[in-house]
Amino acid sequence: MHAWVNGQLLTDPQSPAIVVSDHGLTVGDGVFEAVKVIDGRPFALTRHLERLGRSAAALGLPAPDVEGLREAVSDVLAQEHLALGRIRITYTGGPAPLGSGRGDAMPTTVVVAAPMNAAPRTSAVVTVPWPRNERGALAGVKSTSYAENVVALAEAAKQDASEAIFANLAGHLCEGTGSNVGYVVGGEVRTPTLASGCLAGVTRAVLLEWYDVREVDEPIEVLDSAEEIFLLSTTRDVQAVHRWNDRDLEAPGPVTRQLMELWAAREVEDIDP
Ligand SMILES: Cc1ncc(COP(=O)(O)O)c(C=O)c1O
Repeated sequence: MHAWVNGQLLTDPQSPAIVVSDHGLTVGDGVFEAVKVIDGRPFALTRHLERLGRSAAALGLPAPDVEGLREAVSDVLAQEHLALGRIRITYTGGPAPLGSGRGDAMPTTVVVAAPMNAAPRTSAVVTVPWPRNERGALAGVKSTSYAENVVALAEAAKQDASEAIFANLAGHLCEGTGSNVGYVVGGEVRTPTLASGCLAGVTRAVLLEWYDVREVDEPIEVLDSAEEIFLLSTTRDVQAVHRWNDRDLEAPGPVTRQLMELWAAREVEDIDP
């Protein structure tokens, strides 16, 4: 693992580098990105940096220095060739008083790169009882306040699943803890709209440009009879779902297989789509 913090590469990425009053640590006042690394190069970095800026704006944080971040990413990646890896960019409110009010210090910026294993081709998922709040201040924001996702993912793990899926307050399908959801009904590929409160996933956005996917909001029960279900994320790409709660599905089904092949072919052709 290699790390860069506030302009400096760390010689020891395990050594302390953040002050104890950092607002990201004390109250989750921060935003982040996870970027896939393919053969030493970041995938879709422009889209990730744009989303980081949108997330920061939603929290009222100053705009991140995008060019500085590009340099930081390239400095960190220069430390070790990653055939397959993940970059994590974290941007927080910085040192602050101990309550929810923000201080006037500079934000904290952290860039970490580490190797990653390829995700399995298929996965089991379960629904969880807690709703996503599509009307909340953090709806669709990639904030470091992710403890709800931690709780939901732990529940999924208890049920031998690798992802937990949320409905929103309206009872519509929303997203997973770290992924968007797609499904096939009558041969048509569908995914929830951004109004569902899901994150505007980079994988989702790119797939919408590469394939004919209909954005629609429907009750989560649509997945009880969907022909195929799949997850979309930076670390999973397009991943087929072989178990939805108690229901077993053919995985990958024919449409999902086509999407997986499309993804694998296109992501190496265009590293910053
Ligand atoms: C809540 C949530 N939804 C969806 C996604 C998928 O987004 P992306 O394709 O940009 O990784 C993520 C990413 O980790 C996420 O945290």
